[in-house]
Amino acid sequence: MTENLKHLRIERDARGVATLTFDVQGAPFNVFNDEVIGDLRSVIDDIERDPPRVVVFRSGKASGFFAGADVNRIQQLEHADEVRAVIDAGHSTFARIERLPCPTVAVIHGPCLGGGMEFALACRHRVARDDASTKLGLPETSLGLIPGWGGTQRLPRLVGLRQALKMILEGTNLSASKAAAVGLVDVAAPADSFDATLEQFVADRLNGRSVRHPTRKLLDTLLDATSPGRAVVLASARKKIAKKARDYPALAAALHAVEVGLRTPGSAGYHAEREGFVSVVFTPVAKSLIGLFFQREKARKPSTWVRGVKPATMRKAAVVGAGTMGAGIAQLLAFNGVPVALKDISDDIVAGGMKKVAALTDAAVSKSLLTRADGEALVRRVTPTTEWGPLAGCDLVIEAVVEREDVKRTVFKELAEKLGPDAVLASNTSALSVSRIAESTPHAERVAGLHFFNPVHRMQLVEVVRGRDTDDATVATLVELVRKVGKVPVVVADSPGFLVNRTLFPYLDEAVRLVLEGVPGEEVDRAAVRFGMPMGPLELLDQIGIDIAADVSKTFASLTSDPGPVPERFAEMVAAGALGKKAGRGFYQYDGDRRRKLTAWATPKRARKPEGAAAGELSEVQMRLVYPMINEAAKCLETGVVAEAWMADLAMVLGTGFAPFRGGPLRTADTLGVARVVRELDELRAAHGPRFEPAGLLRHLADGGHGFYTEARALAHV
Ligand code: NAI
Repeated sequence: MTENLKHLRIERDARGVATLTFDVQGAPFNVFNDEVIGDLRSVIDDIERDPPRVVVFRSGKASGFFAGADVNRIQQLEHADEVRAVIDAGHSTFARIERLPCPTVAVIHGPCLGGGMEFALACRHRVARDDASTKLGLPETSLGLIPGWGGTQRLPRLVGLRQALKMILEGTNLSASKAAAVGLVDVAAPADSFDATLEQFVADRLNGRSVRHPTRKLLDTLLDATSPGRAVVLASARKKIAKKARDYPALAAALHAVEVGLRTPGSAGYHAEREGFVSVVFTPVAKSLIGLFFQREKARKPSTWVRGVKPATMRKAAVVGAGTMGAGIAQLLAFNGVPVALKDISDDIVAGGMKKVAALTDAAVSKSLLTRADGEALVRRVTPTTEWGPLAGCDLVIEAVVEREDVKRTVFKELAEKLGPDAVLASNTSALSVSRIAESTPHAERVAGLHFFNPVHRMQLVEVVRGRDTDDATVATLVELVRKVGKVPVVVADSPGFLVNRTLFPYLDEAVRLVLEGVPGEEVDRAAVRFGMPMGPLELLDQIGIDIAADVSKTFASLTSDPGPVPERFAEMVAAGALGKKAGRGFYQYDGDRRRKLTAWATPKRARKPEGAAAGELSEVQMRLVYPMINEAAKCLETGVVAEAWMADLAMVLGTGFAPFRGGPLRTADTLGVARVVRELDELRAAHGPRFEPAGLLRHLADGGHGFYTEARALAHV
């Protein structure tokens, strides 16, 4: 009964074109849930009874076509049979669309992801608007799932096996123009000619014209469309995912479903896809990754952090300090439409900063994130300066000068004098006290920290640091800005190193201690990577720069009763010029960007072999590295650096790449069992010293038999 539709409307015109417009009620993006599938089924009943000449599916929302299946619904699934029913409903609905006798056209703008992409794949044609907001893909494996509504079956047939595996196993999204180049969409057209192109495309379908698809190269055909070629591609994909698949079971499940579908056309592939989905949906990995997805959404809601105050409008901003971070931040603001003045102390340095802005913009253009004209407009939005004049009338200034409190205080004092009383002043300091910096201004309530991570354009997290006197309006303005530039804010209290550096540093420190005790650097880094970190701690130290690590270690050493030998080792390395990657050597040797072998700094003269681990357990080195992070994150929660456990976990995953499938340090503690973590920390303390003393909160949770996420307070929010 198409009169009772809630999320979908249907219009038929005199030419015989039926246009179905989705506008899912109560959701900012279109998502598939049981009701939407129900609406779609009744429309298909109608169309099957009385077929139009062409069916056009489109979205009534400016936000995009379809963001995917409703992840809330996936999270609520409890039993395998319930999962099978949801998958069968999608399979059968999309199969009916595929079998319709008339041409079907999906009209795509904005996100077309997951279940939305699978829906579009079931249509005979796809037309996409070519602009920065349009992205097409199957990101399910990044949630620990596999495409469950035919994606593993239809995508390889449409774009070829290799391209499909890239999209499914790596979760890569395509822009509209790339999608057209690989045959995923029939036509991509820029926004200004999109309506006319679509109109012509539909008229051509009415006239029975055929669509021209890109011709495949011979090698593509050999590899994608012959069975020996496919065997080669599948074997190489299997090899490629082998390491990651230990931690992410969805990868092997997705590959299997693709393989079955290619080998045996018909229902076997869909069956393999369904059972593959069932096999992964209840795993702790999917739970952690889906948990992170919701945490990310929650962090991007301003009301999570402050209520009842309005953020100030951001018309114009400035960045002081045009170095690595300042140039990156200025480019990010301009990318998101905010005019920005970029100030430094000399013309040469400002010019260097502008060069970085231009290089970042060129990279975005070459990735089709921007057109060349938009890229040029972006660079024009950045005004280079050594004067105060261009900063007049700014609503926000972000300071990114050298990490020295005296310099920052001078800059803030001047900023307060030159700018109006309403401007928000933020520091990008990594570890200095925001409250102390604020003392140099008469308006400490408008001063806060805004800690971006390096490289700015890639790292998703920004710590918004609430100083002692920072008011809610300032926090609201900064949270809104972070959201606007597409990043994820986590509001933290002003404590040395805030949350991320404070939690990461004990891990880096422990890595160097291990080397000093005789554990080869290679064992240390390998243990961390096996645990799921994106790179080992020694390699990370090389990237941070040993000179910077030396400064930070001094700050942290002054705060602990157990400073240990690491600051001294860093000082020796700095004296010897082993400053890390930028100097071509640190713990490793480098040849340009390429990491080579370990240096003497990571190769102990009298090496000792650390204890290995039983299957599924942590090794001695892993415990030494990971437990300090768990302990420090617990201390941050205990002392109010963050208000809830998930905030620490999200920040560590986004800020450091902490093994996403483990869901963050505190969720790792839950998975291992908090009581066990406390017991093992006690053992480490007895063997290695007081730095392993478990946080009071860990003991408290262990005594009560709780975890961070099973405690009532944390559970209420996740
Ligand atoms: P950088 O050394 O590349 O740039 C600092 C810039 O500040 C230089 O161009 C310098 O000329 C300029 N400067 C110094 N005094 C100034 C003044 N009075 N007025 C205007 N400009 C002045 O340093 P980087 O790496 O960009 O760091 C900047 C800030 O960001 C520091 O507080 C650092 O701790 C923080 N940070 C750095 C990260 C990194 O990975 N590099 C990550 C996150 C934060």
